[in-house]
Amino acid sequence: MIDALHACEAQALERLRVVQAMPELEAWEIAVLGRKGELAGLLKGMGAVSAEDRPKVGVVANEVKTRLEAAFATKKQDLQASFWRERLAADHVDVTQPGRQPAVGHLHLMQQAIREVTAIFERAGFARARHPEIDGDFYAFEGLNMPKDHPARDEWETFFCDLPGNEEIGKIVLTPHTSNAQVRELKKGVFPIRMVNIGKCYRRQSDATHVPMFHQFEGLVVDRVASITHLLGVLEYFVKAFFGPERKTRLRPFHFRFTEPSFEIDISCGVCNGVGRVDGEKCKMCKRGWVEMGGAGMVHPNVLRAGGVDPQEYQGFAFGWGVERTYLMKQGMNIDDLRVIYKNDIRFLQQF
Ligand code: PHE
Repeated sequence: MIDALHACEAQALERLRVVQAMPELEAWEIAVLGRKGELAGLLKGMGAVSAEDRPKVGVVANEVKTRLEAAFATKKQDLQASFWRERLAADHVDVTQPGRQPAVGHLHLMQQAIREVTAIFERAGFARARHPEIDGDFYAFEGLNMPKDHPARDEWETFFCDLPGNEEIGKIVLTPHTSNAQVRELKKGVFPIRMVNIGKCYRRQSDATHVPMFHQFEGLVVDRVASITHLLGVLEYFVKAFFGPERKTRLRPFHFRFTEPSFEIDISCGVCNGVGRVDGEKCKMCKRGWVEMGGAGMVHPNVLRAGGVDPQEYQGFAFGWGVERTYLMKQGMNIDDLRVIYKNDIRFLQQF
């Protein structure tokens, strides 16, 4: 019996030695130490052992069992340890490696432009104002000295909306310019006014140099004294800050209903430096040395009155200017189609 126990032990240990994985080890445990296993099978034979030998055999049986159990526990530990070693080696993360950079977006170039324009005017004491981009006829036209049915309205290619307006402000329109800010700002009644309103405008137009939705910035200064010289000074300051110190500004007589006198603002062309010719040829950008950038003028007395301001007491000047073209000109890019700004082609936008 004792020999049989030792033989069983030796054989079981030999089998255990070559076990390499958990499932095999579990099978070994059941086969050797299980309730119906090899050891249990042998111990069934105890009945045949004489009473006097029985204690001795019992001691040996217990020792064999203890050793087998200990060998099993050691093997189990080894297998677990190597399992984790392999797992860690495979899943290994080197925390000292530089991380993967997530793609970072940026502001759309028009938002960048708006911030830049705002910052320049803020340095000159202007405050950014925000007036509606969808407004009533009164602020877009009538208050700006353009009575109903006046032909001057035709130029604006307006989108009127099928929305219930109200008696006070009239029919609702998508503002064709940011000049609706003028009467709204005047009505606040806080003087002096030095505001720049930057917002979206809408006109029924779409071609290479026009988009139906675009941005303008509208400057308005109203004080006891405000002159054309001040207007030109502000514009020159802006042009030099935005485009560079070599750029010149000029006012050319024009007509708007809401300013008197009125001007168009030209700046010297960046391509030919205001000369109008490049290498003996006419400049392709401007043809005559100057590029038209916006409109301006002294606020019309009727506009002041519409805003509840006495023209004997206050005077002012205003200017309005498109952001899209301005920004593309600053970049000195040869973009022949303004519409790319809103096509949302990432290859274009990423360049800014
Ligand atoms: N609102 C005019 C336009 O859109 C520009 C302008 C603004 C002219 C202010 C005079 C004064 O063309």
